[in-house]
Amino acid sequence: MTSSNTPPSPLSLSAPAPLAGEVRVPGDKSISHRAIMLSALAVGRSEVRGLLEGEDVLATAAAMRAMGAQVERLGQGHWVVDGVGVGGLLQPDAQLDMGNSGTSTRLLMGLVSSHPITATFVGDASLSRRPMGRVIEPLSRIGAEITASPDGRLPLMLRGADTPLPIHYRLPVASAQVKSAILLAGLNIGAETVVEEPVPTRDHSERMLKGFGAELSVEPMADGGKRIAVRGWAELKPQTLEVPGDPSSAGFLLVAALIVPGSNITIHGVGLNPTRDGLVRVLQEMGADITKLNEREVGGEPVADLLVTHSALTGIEVPPEVAPSMIDEYPILFVAAALASGRTVMRGIEELRVKESDRIAAMAAGLRAAGVAVEELPDGLIVEGSGGEKVAGGCTVATHLDHRIAMSFAVLSLAAKTAITVDDRAPIATSFPDFLPLMQRLGAVQA
Ligand code: S3P
Repeated sequence: MTSSNTPPSPLSLSAPAPLAGEVRVPGDKSISHRAIMLSALAVGRSEVRGLLEGEDVLATAAAMRAMGAQVERLGQGHWVVDGVGVGGLLQPDAQLDMGNSGTSTRLLMGLVSSHPITATFVGDASLSRRPMGRVIEPLSRIGAEITASPDGRLPLMLRGADTPLPIHYRLPVASAQVKSAILLAGLNIGAETVVEEPVPTRDHSERMLKGFGAELSVEPMADGGKRIAVRGWAELKPQTLEVPGDPSSAGFLLVAALIVPGSNITIHGVGLNPTRDGLVRVLQEMGADITKLNEREVGGEPVADLLVTHSALTGIEVPPEVAPSMIDEYPILFVAAALASGRTVMRGIEELRVKESDRIAAMAAGLRAAGVAVEELPDGLIVEGSGGEKVAGGCTVATHLDHRIAMSFAVLSLAAKTAITVDDRAPIATSFPDFLPLMQRLGAVQA
């Protein structure tokens, strides 16, 4: 897990030549978490290929082991899980270390809340600053007893309900984590649990729960949202799963190719679920030359290979409605905007302030230090692009234990006159351990 004792390891990249070549990004982080959790709740042995072996997913695997499932790695991305069955989770002997992972924490809180067990959740400094009130509130209605640190933060202790109650909950924030926490809790409640989401968010939980045999329905609501209902006490059936490539990880490579003149790369096997593909759509709107090849389905998700060519980008007003479909991609979109001609206006993204860091503030500070003109808004950012000219660079940026901040500035450095130094590369391992070797394969070098 994120170790606070290791000295920081700075990183700066440059691109002596255009980026070129073919790569495959690692498995999707959201799907990998859910693959381990649902396999651990099935009755029998599931097999997963293409699992992301980032620290966040390993935290989920360790937690499911601590609650009784057998979770075993057979080879690179190839795992088997022997599930305990819904209702079969055991009380962990020790506290559950969630490292940097908000997804592990919130989804597992959901699972524990409808089992008669007690678990203590701890995390690193970044995770311990993030709000858990958004899950504490609905899970308390289900009957869980939660004792949290001030302001609903980690460390917290959760005592699951002996007789959990079905709830009907309308999400006050657009959050797939909150939705999923409630649906996972609902698996062990002997009635129908309903979540209404006014704004659709990533739907991997719904797709995968159905795939594992849960009784789940999704209906459109008149206001454009969705009503999702799950009936508990269904037996989940073990599955053989293949995890598609992570579009969020692909985003860094994609923007790298767009901003380094002459580049031309292919990224294989990228998941393009319509609740996740906002970055590709927005970049195309800005003039990016991205071609989808070999469109197909992997693990019940739409997937394609992306052919990306360096492009002259133009700033746009990014419609706030796309935010849920690219919520993790704004940091790298800010980087693309820094090289575009004209201004790019991004609003309606206040959720970025409660991610692994305050991503609006962290990106604004780093971009300014690199010579990019930005205006920080309470709910967004306006970036004045360079029109394709290299940015000044020559600075060190603080990553605040945030993998996406680290990778975003490593990519911006490729289009800087003087390299940008990322103060610590360690957080990258939470979601994309192979980021550096893949960038090097495409032609980036350490400056
Ligand atoms: C995730 C949902 C999103 C996203 C996170 C993964 C998930 O968080 O930022 O990286 O797997 O459900 P929110 O639900 O807080 O928006």
